[in-house]
Amino acid sequence: MEQTEQKRDKKKVVLSGIRATGNLHLGNYFGALSKFVRMQDDYDCRYFVADLHALTTHPDPRMLHENVKDILAEYLAAGLDPEKNTIYVQSDVPEIAEMYLLMNMHVGIGELMRTASFKDKARKALGIKSEGDEIEKEIIGNQTNQRVNAGLLTYPTLMAVDILIHHADYVPVGKDQEQHLELTRRFARRFNSFYKTSYFHEPFNFNFGGEAVKVPGLDGSGKMGKSEGNCIYLIDDEKTLRKKVMRAVTDEGPKEPGSPVSEPIRNLFTLMELVSEPSTLEHFKNAYSDCSIRYGDLKKQLAEDILKVTLPIRERILDIRSNDEYLSKVVRRGAERARAAAAGTLADVREIMGIRKF
Ligand code: TRP
Repeated sequence: MEQTEQKRDKKKVVLSGIRATGNLHLGNYFGALSKFVRMQDDYDCRYFVADLHALTTHPDPRMLHENVKDILAEYLAAGLDPEKNTIYVQSDVPEIAEMYLLMNMHVGIGELMRTASFKDKARKALGIKSEGDEIEKEIIGNQTNQRVNAGLLTYPTLMAVDILIHHADYVPVGKDQEQHLELTRRFARRFNSFYKTSYFHEPFNFNFGGEAVKVPGLDGSGKMGKSEGNCIYLIDDEKTLRKKVMRAVTDEGPKEPGSPVSEPIRNLFTLMELVSEPSTLEHFKNAYSDCSIRYGDLKKQLAEDILKVTLPIRERILDIRSNDEYLSKVVRRGAERARAAAAGTLADVREIMGIRKF
């Protein structure tokens, strides 16, 4: 069963997804979604909404479907064309769930427990503050009111299956997902060597030759993230967005010419690099160097340039989000295509693992 033979002349396969846990922010946009859009003409792209992954953190059942629709509308509003791409919802493809069960037979509990994202979330679930390594004991301990759910542990298996079930070549994701991608490659190699096959090939991140981007938040340190409360959302209206930017953390200003740039200001420059003209950024960097910078002006300009990116998207989101008929048409077609691809892989995997029909 040699995939590469039959795929030689075809476009490379791109696969990525975002968890359905709330509206998309600039971190999602610049880390992932804008890359999805840029790749759609040159690759065979499959983009999905990861609702099963969202379940690992127990969303309100009344909200899950709404969250899925939000992300879908945001995908489309950002410019993903459902004619060019396969756009689907993860739970619409039951083959993924079955292959997840099969793949778990080759995944070690230890390697899953060492994953950074798991340790983070397990610590949160157990209420552990320190960075120490006592979480293993806490997890195995019999405090039944402090449970770390097994779905959280096997999150990387599910993500690997999302990717491998499509035989993806490229997986455009932000920097925070690179460890998961590394595990995916490891599981692919392990499956191949266990069954003495070359069935899966290894997928890689894709950044148009650049570095994976890390979008900073507005609170002076760290990345933009939903749980950080430091986000600018694509759906933010003009007033909200301006207010957020004007409130961004800064410092007391450069004391003397050529002062090093502090983290909060560096973060604002990083955001500016993403949305503004190079000459604008240059202007403010120079103003910082010669101490003439006024943070109010910097923020006003930054807000202006972010709005140029987000406002047109926001308008399309509002439009598409209310069109249930269109959304369901898109995902029905997407599910059909995704299932066709997934069913082929699942059948091969069952066969390779020795599951035979009578
Ligand atoms: N873990 C990713 C995130 O949190 C979402 C995701 C799930 C994903 N499955 C994937 C991304 C497969 C790329 C490919 O953003």
